[in-house]
Amino acid sequence: MSENKKCAVVGGGTMGRQIGLNAAIHGYMTTVCETVPAVRENFLKWEEEYLAGRVTKGRMTPEQVDGIKSRLLVTDDLKTAVKNADIIIESIIEDREAKTTVLQQISKLAPTDAIIGTNSSYMVSSLFKDVVSNPERLTNLHFFAPVLAMKLVEVVKGEHVSDVTIEKAMDFCRAVDKTPVLVQKEEDGFIVNNILKVIKEEAYRLINSGVCSIKDLDTAVKLGLGHPLGPFELDDLSGIDVRYHVLKRRLEENSIKSEGYEMIEKLYREGRYGKKTGHGFYDYR
Ligand SMILES: NC(=O)c1ccc[n+]([C@@H]2O[C@H](COP(=O)([O-])OP(=O)(O)OC[C@H]3O[C@@H](n4cnc5c(N)ncnc54)[C@H](O)[C@@H]3O)[C@@H](O)[C@H]2O)c1
Repeated sequence: MSENKKCAVVGGGTMGRQIGLNAAIHGYMTTVCETVPAVRENFLKWEEEYLAGRVTKGRMTPEQVDGIKSRLLVTDDLKTAVKNADIIIESIIEDREAKTTVLQQISKLAPTDAIIGTNSSYMVSSLFKDVVSNPERLTNLHFFAPVLAMKLVEVVKGEHVSDVTIEKAMDFCRAVDKTPVLVQKEEDGFIVNNILKVIKEEAYRLINSGVCSIKDLDTAVKLGLGHPLGPFELDDLSGIDVRYHVLKRRLEENSIKSEGYEMIEKLYREGRYGKKTGHGFYDYR
């Protein structure tokens, strides 16, 4: 179904590398643009290890792995990545200015009818519609970590987004073995992150009030609610830096200060970004 279809992913960090590999696994000719050499090297090392692990576990044959590798290119050149793409997924840092710049560049270099999805955790795509030509093709494609395991993608129908774009975006999700849900109107944070926001606010409030330790709170949420991860483990997995940018934006734009702001800001300033740096709320070293 996805043979000959081309997918570009811009940003090869925690999310981008898995979105890219997942697309290649499901038959898309995929190019990931990553401009930071160290992140690019990490990507290639992780890809090797992940695919070798699949063969060892008997989940993939060496031939399948060869096919996937032949469909996945990692480059530092944005033009190479997007020039022939049918669908482009922007997955860079959660920063409005950086996303505006990159989406504008993508719009200039990509085919005019390519679908463009942003993987932003909170920002609706209409924030960027003025820098993208044919903005009816620009939507949110919000994946969940770890992408290779998590089925959900939120697809958001802003007023500027055409029905055709939504249809193509949903078809893409299904073709890469994901389950899309349609968010019928723009709302910062879409569905899941708004539900999570309530849980996290309460978790931080309980810690700030000295009710329990971070570890006990995570244990209580896992064993009492059946969640696979506690809220602090989840922040470590998705990245303290990502969380910091979200909370900072909420404070600057809406004057809402999260219960967890000081805690997250402190970890961010110390470079404790969670699992990706080996240390966040928990120590993984
Ligand atoms: N981590 C999660 O659990 C998660 C889940 C869903 C969505 N998201 C969203 O996905 C996006 C990427 O998050 P991530 O966790 O992969 O982040 P990451 O920190 O792992 O990767 C960040 C990426 O942004 C690039 N980058 C950094 N500064 C840049 C700049 N100024 N200009 C252009 N590129 C720049 C880096 O090279 C890297 O490719 C964010 O919008 C985030 O909110 C994250």
